[in-house]
Amino acid sequence: MISSWIRRVGAAGLLLLGAGCGQLEGPLPLTYSTSIQAQESLADKPLLRATIQQRLTELFGPSPDVMRVPPGAPLPEGGARLAAFAILGDESAEARPRRVAFRTADGQDEPIRGGYAIYREQCMHCHGASGDGNGPTAPFLWPAPRDYRPGIYKFTSTAGSGPDSKPTRDDLRRTIRLGIANSSMPAFESLLTPNEIEQVIDYVMFLSMRGEVEGGLLFLAQDLEDADAETELSPEAVAEVAELVFERWRSAESNVLNPKVPRPEPTRESIERGRRLFLGEKGLQCYGCHGLDGKGNGESFIDYRSFVRAVFEGNPSREKILALKEEAEKANKKWGDDWGNPIRPGNLTTGQYKGGRRPIDIYWRIAKGINGTPMPVHLGSQLTSDEEVWDLVNFVLALPYQPDLLEDAQPVAPGEATAGVAIGSAGSAGH
Ligand code: HEC
Ligand code: HEC
Repeated sequence: MISSWIRRVGAAGLLLLGAGCGQLEGPLPLTYSTSIQAQESLADKPLLRATIQQRLTELFGPSPDVMRVPPGAPLPEGGARLAAFAILGDESAEARPRRVAFRTADGQDEPIRGGYAIYREQCMHCHGASGDGNGPTAPFLWPAPRDYRPGIYKFTSTAGSGPDSKPTRDDLRRTIRLGIANSSMPAFESLLTPNEIEQVIDYVMFLSMRGEVEGGLLFLAQDLEDADAETELSPEAVAEVAELVFERWRSAESNVLNPKVPRPEPTRESIERGRRLFLGEKGLQCYGCHGLDGKGNGESFIDYRSFVRAVFEGNPSREKILALKEEAEKANKKWGDDWGNPIRPGNLTTGQYKGGRRPIDIYWRIAKGINGTPMPVHLGSQLTSDEEVWDLVNFVLALPYQPDLLEDAQPVAPGEATAGVAIGSAGSAGH
C-alpha cells in the first residue's frame, strides 16, 4: 500500500522530537524513571550515577520528548519513524526540526505520527514512560505489563534463551496486532494501521535498547568507585556496551529457529506419542507444571488458592507478592517469573494461546521454552529431535478437542512402555 520511502533520513546521530512539533504544541514533559538497581548499588556513589545518566543522555537523548538515535542502533530508516519531526545530524542553534514523511506509491508525502506519539496514546499507561512496565494502570493488572528494559521477550521465534533470544519484528508485530490471550495486552489490529504498528515497534525497540544499555552500565559500575567514573565509563567503553546490545537485536532476523522437518499429520499415533511424552516418558515434567489434566494446576507450582489470595483478593501490593514468594519457597514450589511477578502454567485445554495458535507457535514454545518464565527449553535438553517436539505440538493442539486424552491420566515412568489408551478421533485436531 505505501512504499516506505522516507525523506531526509540517513544520518547517524539523528535527533528526534516527540509527538507534534516539539517546542510549539509540545506535549507535557516526561522523564525516564531510573532503574531501581541504580538506587541500590550506587546509593553512595554520586559521580558514577551522574556519569551513567550523562552517557545515557548522550546516546538516547535527555527525555522521551527529545530522543537521540545512537549510531549503529538497528532501527529502520535510521530511527526516523520514532517521531514526526527530526533534526538530522546538525544540532546547531539554527537547526530546525523537519517533518518526517512516508512517500506513498503515488508519490504523495504522507506525514507520520511517529512511534513515540502512538506509544504515548496507546501503550504508555500500561508499559510506562521508560518501558518499565509500570504505567498508572499496571498495579491493577495480572499478568503485569512487560518491562522492556531487561530486553527479555516471551514470544520469540529465535534460538537461544533469555535476552539472547530477541524477538524478530515479525514476533513483535504478531504480539501487537493480535494481543496476548489471557492477559490485558490488547489486540491493536483494528486500532492502528499497519504503518502505525511498524512505527510503534520501532519505539518498543528503542526503549528496550535504552533499558538494556542502562542495565549494562549499572552492571559495569557495580564494583567501581567514584574515582573510576571517567576512565571506566568513557564514551568508548559505553559505546562497546551499546554495540553488544545492538548486535543482539540486529542478529534476531537471521537467528530464527526453523524446524528441520515439517509438521507431521496429527495422526492418532503422533498424538499418542505426544501424550506419553507429556506424561513423563522421557523424564519430561510437562504434567508437573501443567497438571495431569493439563489445566495448569501441577504439583510443581504453589497451589491455586494461595495464588488467588495474593494476586486477586483485596488491594494489590508488593507485600502480598513477597509473602506468596516466601510461602512457595518454603514449600519448594514454583511461583513467579524473572520479573518477580506471580505466574501460572497455561491451561492447555482451552485452545487459547498467548503466543499464537499456529502449530509453529506451539513448536517454538515447547522447543525453546518461554523466556523469563519457568516454561523450560526442551529441544536439545530432554528432547533430541524435531519429531518429538511435533508429536507434543500435535498432542497439545488436540487436547482442547479431545479432553478424554487426559482422563484419569497417570504419570508414565521414564522408559515405561504403555498400553495404548483409548483416544478419540484424531480428525478433529487443529480445528
Ligand atoms: C491494558 C494494558 C496494556 C496496554 C494498553 C498495552 N499492553 Fe503490551 N502488554 C500488556 C501485558 C499485561 C503484557 C504481558 C502479558 C504476559 O506476559 O502474559 C504485555 C506485553 C507486551 C509485549 C511483550 C511481548 C513478549 O513477547 O514478551 C509487547 C512487545 C507489548 N506488550 C507491546 C505493546 C504495545 C506496542 C502497546 C501499545 C500499542 C501495548 N503493548 C499496550 C499490557 C498492555
Ligand atoms: C517448570 C514448569 C513447566 C514445565 C516443565 C512445562 N511448562 Fe509449559 N508453561 C509453564 C508456564 C509457567 C507457562 C506460562 C507462561 C506464561 O504465561 O507466560 C507455560 C506455557 C505453556 C504453553 C502455552 C503457550 C501459550 O502461548 O500460551 C504451552 C503450549 C506449554 N506450556 C506446553 C508445555 C509442554 C508440552 C511441556 C512439556 C514438554 C511443558 N509446557 C512443560 C510451565 C511449564
